[in-house]
Amino acid sequence: MNRDEVQKYIEEQYPGFKVMSKKTIFCRNSRIFMLDLCKGQIQEKIVVKISRNYQPREVALEFSNLSRFYYGCKDEAVSSPKPLFVDAENGILAMSYVQGVNLAHMLHEIRPVSLQYLICAADLSGIALAKFHTLFRRMEDEPVTIDTNAREDDINQFLAESQERMDECNLKTMVTPFFDFTSWNIILKNDCIKNGQSKSTMLYLIDFPRLDYVCTPHLDLARFRFGLELIKQFPPAKFFGLNRWDVDSLYDRFLSSYCREMHVALSQDDLWLISRARLANIRRSQDLTRKGRCGLQPKLEKAYLQTFSRQWLDQGDVFSKWPRMGRAEKA
Ligand SMILES: Nc1ncnc2c1ncn2[C@@H]1O[C@H](COP(=O)(O)OP(=O)(O)O)[C@@H](O)[C@H]1O
Ligand SMILES: [Mg+2]
Repeated sequence: MNRDEVQKYIEEQYPGFKVMSKKTIFCRNSRIFMLDLCKGQIQEKIVVKISRNYQPREVALEFSNLSRFYYGCKDEAVSSPKPLFVDAENGILAMSYVQGVNLAHMLHEIRPVSLQYLICAADLSGIALAKFHTLFRRMEDEPVTIDTNAREDDINQFLAESQERMDECNLKTMVTPFFDFTSWNIILKNDCIKNGQSKSTMLYLIDFPRLDYVCTPHLDLARFRFGLELIKQFPPAKFFGLNRWDVDSLYDRFLSSYCREMHVALSQDDLWLISRARLANIRRSQDLTRKGRCGLQPKLEKAYLQTFSRQWLDQGDVFSKWPRMGRAEKA
């Protein structure tokens, strides 16, 4: 579907509404159309997400997970876009537009913010993930599963190696993992600024899981860490020396906030599992066969990382770089 076809499609879905303006963003896994709708005095801004390489059941699941979170999460600072409708057969998902800035853009310094604001973002991200895990809790005795059709060798290997450790962990809840819990899928909005002070910040989660995995929360905790480290591999941090924030400190804030919200204290085994899942994510970022016919962007990213981040990619030992000794006691 091109832009005009999307416009026609939406005007059929919303009788009486006219599309006043539209903007398209091309993302790796989807095309995002932002549309301004108008009917008399009523104005609405909606987002239509059209997935690439989708399977209808995956699109349907993303929509149902978004709905479950939107209606289930009762927090004054954490929410998601409002689900509007899904057309799974055509890979189309519609939701409300949320105003704000992508956390990744702040961390990349594309949209710089104060360190204080980033700390607040890390705290809110911890709360958001805890809310998600609470809502997407599975039965305690449910076995770990990941879709056998998915080419997730690194994640599978992590799971196989982790089964025994899981029994020793304090964080025992089984959950449907968010899976891509990174700053790219977090939008923050400063609701109101009074006397130069932000009064309230809202966090919106987007890009809900499309696969019905069962795992412990360590997978998502590690993914967030991996996302922070990945940002540091790219300019401006790597080449322009813009390092106002620090991975360890920001991650500590995130983890502490998550643990507070979940009422759990992490043990050495919990940290081992997060570290192991972190390594799986690093290796996964280089595994292009997983993506099938993946296009130019992942290939360029792989070439870039292999050129400039060899050391980071080649960490063999789980505890080689993180956590630091004594980290468990601190946590
Ligand atoms: N409801 C929304 N409101 C505002 N921006 C959105 C919304 N949904 C997606 N976006 C923008 O589109 C980008 C890609 O959306 P996402 O759902 O993460 O797609 P993908 O699965 O391709 O990663 C996001 O990073 C965000 O900037
Ligand atoms: Mg995304």
